[in-house]
Amino acid sequence: MHPHLGRSVSHLLLASTGWSQLALALASTSPSLQAAARVPTPDLAFAACQMALRPPTFNDTLPSKLTQACLSRWGVTSLYLCLRVFAPEGFATEGFAHQNHSCSAYLRAPLPPADIVDRDHFSDEEVARVRRLQREEATDETVLGEVVIPSDRLFWLSYDTLDTILYVHKYHFLYGAAVFVFWALVVLVGVLVRVGSVLSCARSRSPYQPLPRRTEEDDEEVTLAKRAARGNRLSVWLARYITVPATFGYRCAQNVDWVTIPPRVQSITILAFVLLNTAFCIHGYRSFPGNM
Ligand SMILES: *[C@@H]1O[C@H](CO)[C@@H](O)[C@H](O)[C@H]1NC(C)=O
Ligand SMILES: *[C@@H]1O[C@H](CO)[C@@H](O)[C@H](O)[C@H]1NC(C)=O
Repeated sequence: MHPHLGRSVSHLLLASTGWSQLALALASTSPSLQAAARVPTPDLAFAACQMALRPPTFNDTLPSKLTQACLSRWGVTSLYLCLRVFAPEGFATEGFAHQNHSCSAYLRAPLPPADIVDRDHFSDEEVARVRRLQREEATDETVLGEVVIPSDRLFWLSYDTLDTILYVHKYHFLYGAAVFVFWALVVLVGVLVRVGSVLSCARSRSPYQPLPRRTEEDDEEVTLAKRAARGNRLSVWLARYITVPATFGYRCAQNVDWVTIPPRVQSITILAFVLLNTAFCIHGYRSFPGNM
């Protein structure tokens, strides 16, 4: 082999291993591989385990949901194993304490301690062998005669569904607040404008004052007057283009058949309100395939 050829082949090989290493590095940061490392927040994880295990019936107790959640040994153990697998901190959440409280209050049967699923009772191999409840099985028709753990897919679908609900609720709350703030601002601006015009009327009607003698302060007064004139120009511009004229046409508050076209400022306000509503109707929703 020609020595140059040999060198370039080895360069090529080196380059290709470089590329494949780069590709591997990229792949290890891709979302599908990272999903395994997703860390759930404990509160939502507890709720997600509850949600995934609620529809099926464990047949070691009566089928009522409360008995299932409190007295079914299989049901409770399944919930605990779900927490052990996905979020052990879920035992320390408000949701867990709440369920324990309900069980104590209504059935006089507090939940067992978390150590019924520790490694002395369930080794890692035993946990791995526990039946995984699939998404398709998480329905009212399923009857279970054993301990189960939600599959990864079922757990994350429940988790994301709850997460989405929280997200949407947050935006609904903001939406409600924004509508109130909007009209509060409109009223506030209206009141301020009224108060301002009343005050300036009162000032212009103040009794005649003789001209003072010229002093050094006159320059200052001139700038003040200029500033007032500029403020005036703004209010004139506002009156000319925004507050006084009709939306279209010539007269303010024109009657067209049975409707009245409001002045431009009202139209602008209403338009802003409609835009605000439209924005909130479009924004603040989140959906993903498999939403439960
Ligand atoms: C459940 O509540 C009881 C008191 O009502 C408490 O003694 C018990 O430790 C709680 N169980 C767990 C697992 O936290
Ligand atoms: C509970 O359900 C399982 C699976 O459906 C069944 O094999 C078992 O016989 C049932 N046990 C009782 C007591 O109904």
